[in-house]
Amino acid sequence: MLAGGGYAEYVSVPAGQVLPLPDGVELPHAAALPEVACTVWSNLVMTAGLRASRLLLVHGGASGIGTHAIQVARALNCRVAVTGGSRNKLELCAELGAEITINYRNEDFVHVVRSAGGADVILDLMGASYLDRNIDALADDGRLVIIGMQGGVKAELNIGKLLTKRAGVIATSLRSRPIGGPGGKTDIVARVVDDVWPMVADGLVRPVIGAEFPIAEAQAAHELLASGDVAGKVLLRVED
Ligand SMILES: NC(=O)c1ccc[n+]([C@@H]2O[C@H](COP(=O)([O-])OP(=O)(O)OC[C@H]3O[C@@H](n4cnc5c(N)ncnc54)[C@H](OP(=O)(O)O)[C@@H]3O)[C@@H](O)[C@H]2O)c1
Repeated sequence: MLAGGGYAEYVSVPAGQVLPLPDGVELPHAAALPEVACTVWSNLVMTAGLRASRLLLVHGGASGIGTHAIQVARALNCRVAVTGGSRNKLELCAELGAEITINYRNEDFVHVVRSAGGADVILDLMGASYLDRNIDALADDGRLVIIGMQGGVKAELNIGKLLTKRAGVIATSLRSRPIGGPGGKTDIVARVVDDVWPMVADGLVRPVIGAEFPIAEAQAAHELLASGDVAGKVLLRVED
């Protein structure tokens, strides 16, 4: 785990990147947790300092990352706003605890989020195409954390808007982090075990699985993901 790019029944990784099975979740479903838990905790809490009563905006709330981020933020007693591309997906986000749901196809997330006071933290997977509007949607002292580049890598940054709000823009990748040291993979995994696994054991956070396929049908799983017709994680099942 934490090193995307392949599927296997057995894998050799540094010991610090292995997590115990959390209480209350069966092994196949627990497979949906490590990547999203490490991404969400490292970015929202360790990097952006999200804490209780703050407003979090999650773009793509029904994604694998988004469905986990909503639940973790609610477990931290944060308010959550999400964007999504369909009513079904936004309903799922609301069931998971999002109080503000925004259809990015026909609503202006900047207007909606500013009306709610502005986002203290934004978890963004679009990158360039949302940069300027994300900064507009931030509250004073807000933090924009970019983890995806679905909307491109190059955009103009209005430093004046950042200065006025004392805002910050951070971009991170789990895969490129070092194994050791502060903020490294071992550090993140340890924090997830200490802080997120109890949320799972308490039933506050659960894996959200949109579909399961036998591992031999990995191509069909990728086609489903690419179609956008699925929410949460897509699991590949290895039979005994
Ligand atoms: N940096 C890191 O360490 C790291 C780690 C893991 C993942 N990621 C990145 O995080 C992102 C999410 O990963 P995932 O596996 O959870 O993805 P996923 O399940 O495939 O979801 C993709 C999401 O993008 C949303 N989306 C598409 N266009 C959008 C728009 N214009 N505005 C808002 N949302 C939009 C989709 O929303 P609808 O389906 O509602 O249209 C969908 O929820 C990916 O970009 C991935 O590369 C980064």
